[in-house]
Amino acid sequence: MTQRYVVRTFGCQMNEHDSERIAGLLEADGMMPTDSVEDADVIVLNTCCIRENADNKLYGHLGHLKSLKEQRPDLQIAVAGCLAQKDRDTIRERAPHVDVVFGTHNVHRAADLLTEAREQGPIVEILEETVLEDALAFPSVLPASRDSRHAAWVTIQIGCDNSCAFCIVPAVRGPEISRPFDTVVEEVRQLVDQGVVEVTLLGQNVNSYGRDITKRRPLFAELLREVGAIEGIRRVRYTSPHPKDLRPETISAMAEVPTVCEHLHLPLQSGSDRVLAAMHRGYTGERYLQKLAAARDAVADLAVTTDIIVGFPGETEDDFARTLEVAAEAAYDSAYTFIYSPRPGTEAADRVEDFVDPDVVAERFERLRVVIERSAVAKHAARVGRTEEVVVEGPARRDPDLTSGRTRQNKLVHFAADGLRPGAVATVEITGAGAHHLRGDLQEVVASPRHRLRIPVVAG
Ligand code: SAH
Ligand code: SF4
Ligand code: F3S
Repeated sequence: MTQRYVVRTFGCQMNEHDSERIAGLLEADGMMPTDSVEDADVIVLNTCCIRENADNKLYGHLGHLKSLKEQRPDLQIAVAGCLAQKDRDTIRERAPHVDVVFGTHNVHRAADLLTEAREQGPIVEILEETVLEDALAFPSVLPASRDSRHAAWVTIQIGCDNSCAFCIVPAVRGPEISRPFDTVVEEVRQLVDQGVVEVTLLGQNVNSYGRDITKRRPLFAELLREVGAIEGIRRVRYTSPHPKDLRPETISAMAEVPTVCEHLHLPLQSGSDRVLAAMHRGYTGERYLQKLAAARDAVADLAVTTDIIVGFPGETEDDFARTLEVAAEAAYDSAYTFIYSPRPGTEAADRVEDFVDPDVVAERFERLRVVIERSAVAKHAARVGRTEEVVVEGPARRDPDLTSGRTRQNKLVHFAADGLRPGAVATVEITGAGAHHLRGDLQEVVASPRHRLRIPVVAG
């Protein structure tokens, strides 16, 4: 009987991409995907630990799986990803029904570890860091079972060399290592051959891509140009750039390479210079706004999104007022806003006496939401009446009678269209706008999907 697997993803795009690789490895090992945990022989939870609620989510989920494991002792449960990397043995101490724990540096071992555990019993395998000599060090080298046929993540860098005082990522993902330039370009070429029209280049600080290769100068702008020039690619995106390292070359590449989309995700974190310094972010509110203005001057119709943390230890009302000011001036298209969550082992987590009262944080969070929503609504309303190119994603989540697509600015548009498959390219006239999406009327189908349809596999 063919074994069935489920991979559940809890984290960011890198975590999602790792999940695609884990799924690819399990399929290469003869397993088949299923949507239902009840039907699965293997369940992999790919975890995140960026905030405390990410931890809680995992343990809640594991609690639910306990009774399933009791009913079906052959069921294998694996915990992977950042929380596994961080918590290691604690996971099996808290949830002894877990069969395999593996981390962020040995994703390539997913299938082998499950086989070994079937024969030998539970395994916890966490590596301290990526073994570069290992040809499989970069997740993108592994086979993937991608969620989308027309759009793909491409890892260009793993780890992070920064030391933002709130952030656990460097402790989990290790030092920054760039993937060789030619390997990235070759992967994108192959993806385009398979019909992919859109790629998102992934790294924790993409602007410093290549600094470790050249021992000096980052190569990110060159990479954007090279990838953007590949024949058949329609859209190139990237995430995330760090404001301190956003260089004029990158902005020029965005402006000059037609395939690079007009969207910049530039995490602000705070507008207060005092808080930014305590976070070790390496820029001021003013410097951030200057870089943003330069990007907007160079790239016509640039959409800008961000991440902001509310309630960093020691944040005063004045500090927060400055965050509101900078956010209003930045006039974001949208923002991910987070309540500061202490992560043991990070510098800021030790400043317990400076923690901000949760009621104050909640009130600030709401005031920030209002400021962000104001600019988001205005930005979206300004698009009504325009004709936009969208790449179709599939049926709209809330209303499957409608189709959803993304504009070059990464805005979600819902419109009526019969039989347009994911990956199709169409023009849509924007007729309505909310804070989080647009509505439109289909004008013209510009291109059909280039990839082959996924051929359903019949269970054996
Ligand atoms: N490398 C990316 C960030 C990855 S983490 C960058 O620097 O842009 C994604 C976001 O999570 C961060 O931008 C930050 O806003 C948020 N975040 C990270 N640690 C956090 C914490 N301890 N509490 C709350 N939010 C946090
Ligand atoms: Fe975390 Fe800062 Fe690195 Fe981003 S740049 S992953 S916030 S340490
Ligand atoms: Fe991503 Fe969460 Fe890890 S944000 S890098 S999955 S801690």
